[in-house]
Amino acid sequence: MCTTISLDLLVFVWTVFIPMINRLINYTLISLFHYSNIRYGEGVSKEIGMDLQNLGAKNVCVMTDRNLSQLPPMKAVVESLVKNGVKYKVYDNVRVEPTDSSFKDAISFAKNHAFDAFVAVGGGSVIDTCKAANLYACHPDADFLDFVNAPIGKGKPVSGAVKPLIAVPTTAGTGSETTGVAIFDYEPLKAKTGIASRAIRPTLGIVDPTHTLSMPERVAANSGFDVLCHALESYTALPYDQRSPCPTNPINRPAYQGSNPISDVWSRHALHVVAKYMKRAVRDPEDLEARSSMHLASVFAGIGFGNAGVHLCHGMSYPIAGNVKTHSAKGYNLEHPLVPHGLSVVLTSPAVFNFTAPMCPERHLEAAEILGADIRQVKREDAGAVLADTLRQILFDLHVEDGLGAVGYTKDDIPALVKGTIPQERVTKLSPRAHTVEDLSRLFEASMKLY
Ligand SMILES: NC(=O)c1ccc[n+]([C@@H]2O[C@H](COP(=O)([O-])OP(=O)(O)OC[C@H]3O[C@@H](n4cnc5c(N)ncnc54)[C@H](O)[C@@H]3O)[C@@H](O)[C@H]2O)c1
Ligand SMILES: *[C@@H]1O[C@H](CO)[C@@H](O)[C@H](O)[C@H]1NC(C)=O
Ligand SMILES: *[C@@H]1O[C@H](CO)[C@@H](O)[C@H](O)[C@H]1NC(C)=O
Ligand SMILES: [Fe+2]
Repeated sequence: MCTTISLDLLVFVWTVFIPMINRLINYTLISLFHYSNIRYGEGVSKEIGMDLQNLGAKNVCVMTDRNLSQLPPMKAVVESLVKNGVKYKVYDNVRVEPTDSSFKDAISFAKNHAFDAFVAVGGGSVIDTCKAANLYACHPDADFLDFVNAPIGKGKPVSGAVKPLIAVPTTAGTGSETTGVAIFDYEPLKAKTGIASRAIRPTLGIVDPTHTLSMPERVAANSGFDVLCHALESYTALPYDQRSPCPTNPINRPAYQGSNPISDVWSRHALHVVAKYMKRAVRDPEDLEARSSMHLASVFAGIGFGNAGVHLCHGMSYPIAGNVKTHSAKGYNLEHPLVPHGLSVVLTSPAVFNFTAPMCPERHLEAAEILGADIRQVKREDAGAVLADTLRQILFDLHVEDGLGAVGYTKDDIPALVKGTIPQERVTKLSPRAHTVEDLSRLFEASMKLY
């Protein structure tokens, strides 16, 4: 049996939140909300062939990575395409944690075949690569840096449509199926950056929880930490009405808008699910209830952070990933060194939330409570310390490496890590607390050892 729900989140948002929206309309930066399209259920990926037929697609690009190309999620998608007579070509050369050169390789594949629709079967690496391939294939005259976030790229707004993209996420996860964001490691700077535009948000996310059952334990852990940090960062991000100036044209409205009442609902809910299911999902790959719940949590958190934004854990993670020297990711079976995204994000989380707590202690306390802390006797000024301790305990329980030191960094690397964080203002400016270069150094230093 295949049970599915189809959410048109826009309808949900407008019927539930109209009174709230009316109140918000006068504020500085935000009076518009854009949300995503998700279809969820066990076995739902069987429908993808029909979806492509309904779109009238005649030449489909299916992207995945080498490992996944042999696994059940890819088999299910290909079977559905074959059964429905959809013509397709497979690109399975996606790099796990893409770079500018791996993006460019996928882009040239897309440019060479005049595809009329795209399908991404994989984690964030695959979905992000597919978004970029679609974008640049539809803008063949654009330079690669045109749409990349400023100040690294030109940050030009995307004008003109891209082709339909259906994302089939297999991790739980980046939430990339819900966001208009594509992240890559920009090798010249040794730091990640990305493209952020509503134009590249997938047309549809097909969220089939059976696909998460094959995730190795560390992939489940690291992608789960990504969900945790998406929820925590978006919930504590600078509020949307404290941002200015208002863009003169709505095309320039940032994808990351600051925390807002709609995102809060998704972020807080995601946090509850993570608190309840993450440990089970990591420890028992056959726990379908836990893995399914985390798969949905990644969607919820994706809708939260894809609209509100993330801040310091993500901003600081980009150079942690980009400067990796020798660390080889446990359980990933890769030839290149890697600090997986979720790990690079979560290692600084105790220090970061300890630092941001004074700006909105109630939200930090609430998060700590959701994650299991007893906060009845806790003073507001201790919110940061309590959330930091709660996070450290979760990391310890899930066998996370003991800080940046354990993934190959020393104090001597801190200047390079800070340098790589400075250009991440797209996210770091969403931090609720303003910060100096010295603050960033102290946050990296405090993250060298956790236990
Ligand atoms: N676009 C966004 O909004 C967004 C948000 C957060 C992170 N990201 C980016 O996403 C990337 C990380 O993505 P990720 O954490 O989803 O992991 P991933 O896509 O990098 O995959 C990690 C590994 O797990 C394997 N894998 C994935 N699903 C599997 C499954 N079901 N069974 C067996 N193996 C499986 C892959 O083959 C790969 O080896 C990073 O580049 C990160 O920067 C993007
Ligand atoms: C990739 O596949 C290999 C061999 O099948 C496996 O050992 C490894 O754990 C897989 N890695 C990931 C991240 O799925
Ligand atoms: C939390 O911040 C306080 C005050 O800045 C500092 O003394 C303490 O060491 C920090 N703790 C962590 C875990 O970073
Ligand atoms: Fe992330």
